Amino acid sequence: MTLSQDNEAETLKHQSNLSRLKDLSIHDWYRFVYAYSDQIITGLVDEFGITQDDLVIDPFNGTGTTTLATKKLGIDAIGTDTSPASVLSARTKTNWDVDLDEFRERRSELLSTIQPIFKQISSEGNTTLDSFGDSTSEEIDLSKYDFSEPEKTPKGWLSEKPLKKMKVLRYHIEEMPDDEVTDLFRLAMIAILPEDVGNVRFGPEATRDRKQEGDKDVYSILKKKLDKMEQDLEQVQEAIESGKVGPGETEILRADARELADTLRSESRLLNTDKHEGEIDYLITSPPYPAEHDYTRNQRLELIWLGVCDDNKDLQKIKKMNIRSHTKNIYVADDEGEQTNIRENDRIDAIVSEMENIIEEENISHGFGQYYPRVIEEYFAGMLHHFEQVYDLMADGGKAAYVVGDSGSYWQVEVETAEILAELAEERVGFADPQIRLWRNMAATTADYDDVEENILILTKPEE
Ligand SMILES: C[S@@+](CC[C@H](N)C(=O)[O-])C[C@H]1O[C@@H](n2cnc3c(N)ncnc32)[C@H](O)[C@@H]1O
Repeated sequence: MTLSQDNEAETLKHQSNLSRLKDLSIHDWYRFVYAYSDQIITGLVDEFGITQDDLVIDPFNGTGTTTLATKKLGIDAIGTDTSPASVLSARTKTNWDVDLDEFRERRSELLSTIQPIFKQISSEGNTTLDSFGDSTSEEIDLSKYDFSEPEKTPKGWLSEKPLKKMKVLRYHIEEMPDDEVTDLFRLAMIAILPEDVGNVRFGPEATRDRKQEGDKDVYSILKKKLDKMEQDLEQVQEAIESGKVGPGETEILRADARELADTLRSESRLLNTDKHEGEIDYLITSPPYPAEHDYTRNQRLELIWLGVCDDNKDLQKIKKMNIRSHTKNIYVADDEGEQTNIRENDRIDAIVSEMENIIEEENISHGFGQYYPRVIEEYFAGMLHHFEQVYDLMADGGKAAYVVGDSGSYWQVEVETAEILAELAEERVGFADPQIRLWRNMAATTADYDDVEENILILTKPEE
């Protein structure tokens, strides 16, 4: 069976649950450019025969597609990621048991507080007839707000007035109690930043978009987002109450996938329940691959507004937890490649040697090119550590699906990511019978390389 199109019949098994939630687009509460879709999860759930007794994990869970899709199917799942913005997203999207009355109360208070402030900010510097006509309304004292642009904001990503409004919004959200209802507001706040408020375009890397510069109606944008969240939660709570839907349990944790087993054994509640007995049955994920995607840059505004990216030190802390998949997160002390003798793998050795030759021949001594071979070594060594941890957690006969792209981002040197990962998983870790199948061809992100394959790599832990 192919996974992308021909799985309709298989998916029907899940229609009874899904159809009740089909208009529910909780995924849209917050998305990012690297997210995959519900369909790939439902296809794999059917193909593997995953049941409601099983435990699924997505160790690179991103905005939470896997954990939300499995929850809708009544299947328990754990999602982990290193990005606090993604953890907030996945956790909020899968927490359906929130007090909606409390949410409504806080929403109306927040909206009535910010509306006149936003109006005043919009009219600042405007000497139109309108603003003269409005001279009866009192000026609000805005001196308690800090309107300075946060240090790590990329240049031009936020125009002056939207920046001020977002700082006011953040101030008032921070005044709320630190609980799961407030998480909905936090998620709405970070979601609207790249989507509608900032001057950012994703292609897929984030760049400044001058066409979007100027004031924005942040009030309406926020209100629309909060209304959507309320509608979705109303619908889902109603379906659960009437017994039509039995959602799976979910647990979302911040963890480095290279230390997965260690973290989950000590921090996970769901893994250690009687139902799951400390074992993962299935894994479905899309990990990073060596293609110069900088996740911390694409989520920069969100991380800043969550208060976890105030300076370089903060940013580095997040980057260092990440799999080394691009030249801007390679550090002097990185030695996973050496530790694991990763070049013993012939394919990796050939790629690294080819890159080293280019560096020598072209006399490259500066710029990011000099780090290309190290990205390859550190990337595959990091994934090797991750596979070891998954093997340790997985039940015998368990299966893992990794959606990964090939790469030609580095001087067009071909990196067949899935093939290499399959070899490492089989030869160095003990997974059996790796299968690779084409998921889709997609346009390369660099202009100098035509087309890259995205594959699904399937690994099986052998029965004892
Ligand atoms: C391709 S994205 C996953 C997208 C996800 N499938 C979705 O639909 O949103 C890869 C994710 O891996 C995360 N990541 C990178 N290094 C990691 C690590 N060492 N441990 C856990 N997550 C990591 C990134 O933060 C990013 O969210």
